[in-house]
Amino acid sequence: MVAIDGPAGAGKSTVARGVARALGFAHLDTGAMYRALTAKALGAGIDPSDGPALTSLAEHTELDFGPDGLIVDGHPVGREARAARVSRAVSAVSAHQGVRRELVRHQRKILSKGDVVAEGRDIGTVVAPDAPVKVFLTASIDERARRRHREMAEGGQEVSLPSLKDEIARRDAHDSSRPVSPLVPAADAVQLDTSNQTPREVVDKVIALVRERREAR
Ligand code: DC
Repeated sequence: MVAIDGPAGAGKSTVARGVARALGFAHLDTGAMYRALTAKALGAGIDPSDGPALTSLAEHTELDFGPDGLIVDGHPVGREARAARVSRAVSAVSAHQGVRRELVRHQRKILSKGDVVAEGRDIGTVVAPDAPVKVFLTASIDERARRRHREMAEGGQEVSLPSLKDEIARRDAHDSSRPVSPLVPAADAVQLDTSNQTPREVVDKVIALVRERREAR
């Protein structure tokens, strides 16, 4: 398997998708799991600070992984998981230990089934510390905000660039400083700054790394 971690907007999804396609691996977006649970919690009127209620919600959520991606309670995870109100609440939801325990359990089960490129914040450190290939992507905050802005505009969501930059900085700080599974590179992760690289260049570097590791074994 390949573990790809990093902050919001570092290019994880684009790179993970490209690497998975090139290698014939499945692509697991663990952020989408936290987002889907957050969307469900908001719909049920659960406060993002209510750890016990969120843990119970996670325990009563059915998570499957099919050829087209994640299926939550029988429905594919859709665009609602990327809505601005979900993005604002997801860091708080994902900081609860019980929520993480439950979602990590599902993630490990999915990873045990075969060749997967998994992206997230704690794949190389917590979910799969034995992953043979670990990559930690970074990019400047300005570049990450620009990418998210473009992505959202393409999806029909108009958000101001400065407010998006603020939100990403807030989410970074929150994700990096939480006591449970903070966003930190694994000691054995290869760090790549994607600010001045095309997705293609980064995908090629990760594939080269996978081949290198395979030959070394
Ligand atoms: O990658 P993303 O922006 O879709 O992730 C949404 C949030 O989910 C992110 O702010 C932190 C959380 N997350 C996490 O805590 N652990 C992961 N493995 C993946 C995402």
